[in-house]
Amino acid sequence: MKRQRVAVVGCGMLAQSVHLPNVQANPRGELVAVCDLDPAIAEACRQTFGAARAETDWQRIVAADDIDVCILATHTNLRGAFIIPALEHGKAVYTEKPLAPDRAEMLAIVQAVRRTGRPVCVGHNRRSSPAMLEFRRLLTAAQGTTGWPASVDRSAGRESLPEERGLQLLMRVNDDIRSWKEWIFTDDAGIMFAEMVHFLDLALWLNPGHPVRVFADGSPRGNFTLLLRFDDGALTTIQQTMVGHFDYPKELYEAATHNITIAMDHHIEVRQCGLADEPLLQTFPYAAVTTWAPEPGMTGYFHALDADLRHAARTIGVEKGHARHLDRFLTHLDGLGENPCPVDGAVAVNRIALKCLESARLGLPVAITPEDWHIPA
Ligand SMILES: NC(=O)c1ccc[n+]([C@@H]2O[C@H](COP(=O)([O-])OP(=O)(O)OC[C@H]3O[C@@H](n4cnc5c(N)ncnc54)[C@H](O)[C@@H]3O)[C@@H](O)[C@H]2O)c1
Repeated sequence: MKRQRVAVVGCGMLAQSVHLPNVQANPRGELVAVCDLDPAIAEACRQTFGAARAETDWQRIVAADDIDVCILATHTNLRGAFIIPALEHGKAVYTEKPLAPDRAEMLAIVQAVRRTGRPVCVGHNRRSSPAMLEFRRLLTAAQGTTGWPASVDRSAGRESLPEERGLQLLMRVNDDIRSWKEWIFTDDAGIMFAEMVHFLDLALWLNPGHPVRVFADGSPRGNFTLLLRFDDGALTTIQQTMVGHFDYPKELYEAATHNITIAMDHHIEVRQCGLADEPLLQTFPYAAVTTWAPEPGMTGYFHALDADLRHAARTIGVEKGHARHLDRFLTHLDGLGENPCPVDGAVAVNRIALKCLESARLGLPVAITPEDWHIPA
């Protein structure tokens, strides 16, 4: 196993809470350099996370001979301008989402990946959440079967309807505007672009068909519903609210297909009804920092909330896959396993996120065509 020499560029909230500790803890990685426009932040991160050096100019990271992998955790103010020369200098890049704000910049990154043969992994980390991977495994298993006989079943002798073969998927995102950082209020594309790319990525990753239409209703700044139709008739609904309570579980995923219902609650619990050979309920560990809430699953979450958080305001961290996503990418660089999120798929996600904005602003459904999700070889 080769230890990849890593640099982290953009050492703000996400890098300090996720990427820097994850590199530090990963035996496949070695933190060589940190870089931030703010010298005080760069130096503080160098000391806290044990990097050999701190930089303020990302061009020095691109040109360095002792760096194999760059983690880019700035906002979209820095994407193609950094990623393309980094690839040309032989580096691999893990970039935070969104990949880039417009099609031209995204395609320039795709072309650089193809030209240099160096990989980019996009930080759609929920693909690597253990509970999400289990949700997807069960959903795949459900495609080839039918749910066990129900307690009420009047279908004997009835012709099956074409609609009965569809996949209905709901993603509910409970957010609290009181927790949002300042930049969200001035960002032109807002939450519907910057945050929804996570959920649009999952919609494309979980649906076997291609998207054909989106309708976004509500304000792009928050409190909206996205409805995606796929070419096999499947519908995915993403419901985002900014007027929920921060400490209520944020994410619920519920899929129904072939009379099988599968749910994933907040990355800590997976439930299903209809798959005969699978467990009805599984629980998944909290994030490593939440050692103080030992009882697993949703019941455990609410017991922890009742016993502690209501009084002491501690966040119950859940495992959204950040560490595993990076580990899968480092493993891929070692020649073992796939890149967990190559760049082509992220182009489709961002294109569709832009169509969501268009739909919300027009108040009309907007077509999605192959040029949104297919890039010629
Ligand atoms: N995957 C996730 O779960 C997740 C969660 C939160 C944020 N994000 C993404 O991570 C990115 C960063 O978000 P954040 O909340 O950490 O932001 P932040 O504002 O806290 O940090 C960004 C940092 O980048 C630095 N920076 C900006 N331009 C730079 C440049 N040219 N060179 C070097 N440093 C530069 C800033 O000084 C700042 O310290 C965003 O793209 C956001 O969408 C992802």
